[in-house]
Amino acid sequence: MMLQGLVLCALLAAVPALATPAGYVLTPSGPRPPECVHALPEGASVYEPEGAPFFHFRLPSGELTAPIRRCRAAGAAAMAEGDGWQAYVKQQMGDNATHTYIDGFNATWTVPPVPQEQAQTLFSFSGLQNIDWVPPQPQPTAFFDIIQPVLQYGYSAAGGFEGAWSIASWYVTLTGNTVYSPLKKVPEGGHIYGIMVRTAGESDSWFISTQHVEGNVTSAITVERNVLVSQPWAYVTMEVYDVDDCAQFPPAGSVSSFTGMTVSVGGKPFTPAWEVGADGQKPPVCGADVKVNSPSAVDLIY
Ligand SMILES: *[C@@H]1O[C@H](CO)[C@@H](O)[C@H](O)[C@H]1NC(C)=O
Ligand SMILES: *[C@@H]1O[C@H](CO)[C@@H](O)[C@H](O)[C@H]1NC(C)=O
Repeated sequence: MMLQGLVLCALLAAVPALATPAGYVLTPSGPRPPECVHALPEGASVYEPEGAPFFHFRLPSGELTAPIRRCRAAGAAAMAEGDGWQAYVKQQMGDNATHTYIDGFNATWTVPPVPQEQAQTLFSFSGLQNIDWVPPQPQPTAFFDIIQPVLQYGYSAAGGFEGAWSIASWYVTLTGNTVYSPLKKVPEGGHIYGIMVRTAGESDSWFISTQHVEGNVTSAITVERNVLVSQPWAYVTMEVYDVDDCAQFPPAGSVSSFTGMTVSVGGKPFTPAWEVGADGQKPPVCGADVKVNSPSAVDLIY
């Protein structure tokens, strides 16, 4: 144990975590310019008219807000070492050639104990991306987006609660706008239920919901955008920012178990063969790890 501790300390000293760069805010796909990150009004959805350089929020009343210009020019900040995905599994699903698309991915996961120290941001989520890009890899030249129900510890662009976990649903891009639903505080222990479901057939509209099961507290968004017709890369991920001390992690060995994971492709149940991803931070901070137990169960290990 002692030796392991020393190795970890040496590792952390060699890889200092850098704070979110000045002028940027943190999202669950890394730092973004604040003008590209938007809070979704409660119950509203995101609607982008085809080919338009802007999108609207559709309020629960059905009314569209004034157009919000698509944030095209601004890129994300370069990823610092010490930040990004630490442990994850992935699986490509669907087949564009035959228009067989993934249309749903649901998962339940446990909320780990709160860390002893705070100054960091921890995210865990199930997610669907258009391409297989993983922070801290260099930014892709291709357009990138992800939908994700997210469990967060600490602060992000969506806000945060001191010393507590919280939930929100996100739609993140690197070169366009990012949208999140209202952040809600959740206690340690208990379960998060994340839903991503295409709202109709071969449509470009997704409902993304993050729920604290025991508290029956939900934060959800609906996003309608052309690019979401195909979203073939599925993940279960532990992502962290600004971790420079393992006391900023849940106690060593804490497990967040993702269970009851269900996937639907082309309207039929699909059995994933999860592959442990190798493009995250190397080596991961504080011995972060992931274990595949079955097609429907994966453990994130802190
Ligand atoms: C959970 O909350 C929803 C919406 O507020 C409500 O309709 C539902 O009855 C609640 N379910 C339980 C089990 O309390
Ligand atoms: C996920 O949950 C939603 C809401 O209950 C449901 O409509 C959908 O069929 C589920 N998808 C899968 C793949 O289990």
